[in-house]
Amino acid sequence: MIRPRRNRLTPAIRSMVRENSLTPANLILPVFFHEDAEDTPLISMPGVTRWSLAGLVREAGEAHALGIPAIVLFPKIDEALKSPDGAICGDEDGLVPRAIRAIKAAHPTLCVITDVALDPYNSDGHDGIVRRNERGALEILNDETVEVLCRQALAHARAGADIVAPSDMMDGRVAAIRETLDLAGFPNVSILSYTAKYASALYGPFRGALDSAPKEGDKKSYQMDPANSREAIRECLLDEAEGADMLMVKPAGFYLDVIAQVRETTILPVAAYQVSGEYLMLKNAAAGGWLDERAIVMESLLAIKRAGADMILTYFAKQACGWL
Ligand code: PBG
Repeated sequence: MIRPRRNRLTPAIRSMVRENSLTPANLILPVFFHEDAEDTPLISMPGVTRWSLAGLVREAGEAHALGIPAIVLFPKIDEALKSPDGAICGDEDGLVPRAIRAIKAAHPTLCVITDVALDPYNSDGHDGIVRRNERGALEILNDETVEVLCRQALAHARAGADIVAPSDMMDGRVAAIRETLDLAGFPNVSILSYTAKYASALYGPFRGALDSAPKEGDKKSYQMDPANSREAIRECLLDEAEGADMLMVKPAGFYLDVIAQVRETTILPVAAYQVSGEYLMLKNAAAGGWLDERAIVMESLLAIKRAGADMILTYFAKQACGWL
């Protein structure tokens, strides 16, 4: 009789036939920080802190020591510095460039990834420049935004970022950023493109952490419709053609089918972002005693890996390394 259970009989056999596994090298830690000297625990994301620059450097070092190869920087910008075009994002002495230099000075072998988008800098809370059209409706300007994003990416590259990660979903930004970096003498700075970033309700805790929620309207005219997956393939082919080095799907857990389809379509490395709302759901269910935290977190990460992600951005990265 054919008995599939024979391959599950003992831990030794199960370990031989296991198809997927996780290692710290698969994990990327997103980190929040601000200008203040205090490290502020985030109420919207239990267990996550918005760091001072000194705290950020310490956190980066701890992550690196655990075997995590990369972090992604998410700044909270002072309200007074925000403007409709978010121009301050290109400031070479801005919070992000200073953070990159400080981290690189202390931990030169840690890979530093930066987020390229206007939302932390934009007084309207959108990823691009907002204009009100003749009919009174909000429009997000594509090409004007891409110009600002290029200056932002360049400021990050000059400060020493290894990888810039455009998360804005404007059309043509990967090609424009690639050209800007190449012309400015940064051919080795990589682009990790948020290729399929969905207009998801799962970003709520993140926007609370950075005070970056849209003041008006939503992000549906640039982030993808959760109903679509063929459209993700279109974005994937474009980002590849425009010169992206790595592609990302976001969120991760509700979009495993999209991760799998992007994996089938591209030969580039694929990343997936387990976002703030996914973190919060697992964290709260575990805190309530309803789910076993270690088991549920590892299952969620392994599922994302199995779907086809090479790299996973997760707020659980440090905890998961402890469990591996
Ligand atoms: C914005 C950005 C967002 C996240 C990462 N970059 C939020 C948004 O698009 O509104 C969300 C990450 C998370 O929820 O953990 N460019």
